Amino acid sequence: MSSRAVLPPGPAAPPLVQTARWVRDPVTFFERCRNRYGRRFTVRFLFGPPIVSLSDPAEVKAIFGAPPDVLEPGFGGKILEPVLGSRSVLVLDGDDHLRQRRLMLPAFHGERMATLTGVLEEVTERAVAEWPRDRPIELHPRLQALTLEVILRAVFGLEPGPRLDALRTVFTAYLEEASKPHNMPTGLQRDLGRLSPWGRFLRVREQALGLVSAEIARRRTADQGDHGDVLAMLLGATEEDGTPMRDLDIRDELVTLLVAGHETTASQLAWTCERLVRTPDVLARAQAAVDAGDDAYLTATIQEALRCRPVLMFAQPRFVARPITVGDVAYPAGSCALTANVHLVHHDPDIYPDPYAFRPERFLEQAPGTFTWLPFGGGRRRCLGQAFAMLEMRVVLAALLRTTDLARDPAAAPGDEAHLRRHITVSPAEGARLVLQSRRTTRPAAAAA
Ligand code: HEM
Repeated sequence: MSSRAVLPPGPAAPPLVQTARWVRDPVTFFERCRNRYGRRFTVRFLFGPPIVSLSDPAEVKAIFGAPPDVLEPGFGGKILEPVLGSRSVLVLDGDDHLRQRRLMLPAFHGERMATLTGVLEEVTERAVAEWPRDRPIELHPRLQALTLEVILRAVFGLEPGPRLDALRTVFTAYLEEASKPHNMPTGLQRDLGRLSPWGRFLRVREQALGLVSAEIARRRTADQGDHGDVLAMLLGATEEDGTPMRDLDIRDELVTLLVAGHETTASQLAWTCERLVRTPDVLARAQAAVDAGDDAYLTATIQEALRCRPVLMFAQPRFVARPITVGDVAYPAGSCALTANVHLVHHDPDIYPDPYAFRPERFLEQAPGTFTWLPFGGGRRRCLGQAFAMLEMRVVLAALLRTTDLARDPAAAPGDEAHLRRHITVSPAEGARLVLQSRRTTRPAAAAA
């Protein structure tokens, strides 16, 4: 790596201090950098190369459109390799990445997603009906359980029963171990036996991978038919020359989908509810829209929550593998990684007037822009699960608004919930604490999705 390259200015504090500041309060960290250095600055974290944060839409466009051999996002995902596996689409770069992504894309096509609506609604209705009413609760852990159930059913096509129970138990433990701060992969952890934190993580991982492999083998040997699930699609996927996907590749992609699709969606829904109970006029309008079967306002509400509180505050950093000029800055090969700073683009008053206001109407007036609305990243690394996540969030939010009145916890401190960083995502620090009041006039299910 060339350490002498002249990169855009940024904080001078040592990487340890910058990492600690980002971990403690990512919003303040990024906003202070923007206030001091503008839309382009360099941050240095403990592991990996310097990261240049860009938030001018023209520069964002340049990152997302750069050829894969110039910017290599897989570098950013490498840190997740111990959790996702070396064949994960999030970890791979170049041709390998494109090949895997092409094989997976059909499973996430909008039309394909629509066939999952039934499962989504069934799982959601049951869960929402069980959540306590009329007393303060933390919604986030309940949403995590719900989104895990949804993704397990959608990915594996399993009906409730012992196999689904086993996967749920093991993956709950796996995701919990993986999200512990000391298990954030650094390359320095060692397996010191089952009593050591990393040792425990590796053993749960072995169990989780074993169950996924067993499920793949079972589906390969018995003709289970196509239940519209992702596994069926991947088992049937072939490369241009007819070669099917290897079991190991399928295994790593399934684990990737479980990890990438569960916490993100749960946290985003938690933020949406956190915003709604703090903006009663929007809440009232969203509930009326659900009652009337008006999907447009519900969708705009979710888009606005994704703008105000993106759970991934920046897109995967793309490593500069070959020289590139973005804006008027030339970045030499190996000098840094470039990232689109989602939070800062979304809170730029030149792009979004009154950016801190929660106002879904802005997306009724104008559809989200490709380089100004970035919760799902962009380019050839854009989130594969976007259609799935949007569908799931609509179904869950519609079910909540149809059957309950969301209200603030009367004992909660005034103000917004702070940002709690959990690994690479941010979620509401109080767990989206609120009250689900029984709705006295429950309307029949409208066309929610
Ligand atoms: C609200 C929910 C979600 C958000 C905010 C979100 C956000 C993101 C972001 C920002 C990226 C990186 C894009 C980039 O760097 O350009 C990403 C990648 C990805 N997401 Fe999501 N995601 C969500 C839900 C899901 C779901 C439900 C799935 C799967 C079912 C999923 C699967 C993936 C995969 C496989 C990638 C890697 C794509 C690649 O590298 O080619 N995500 N997501």
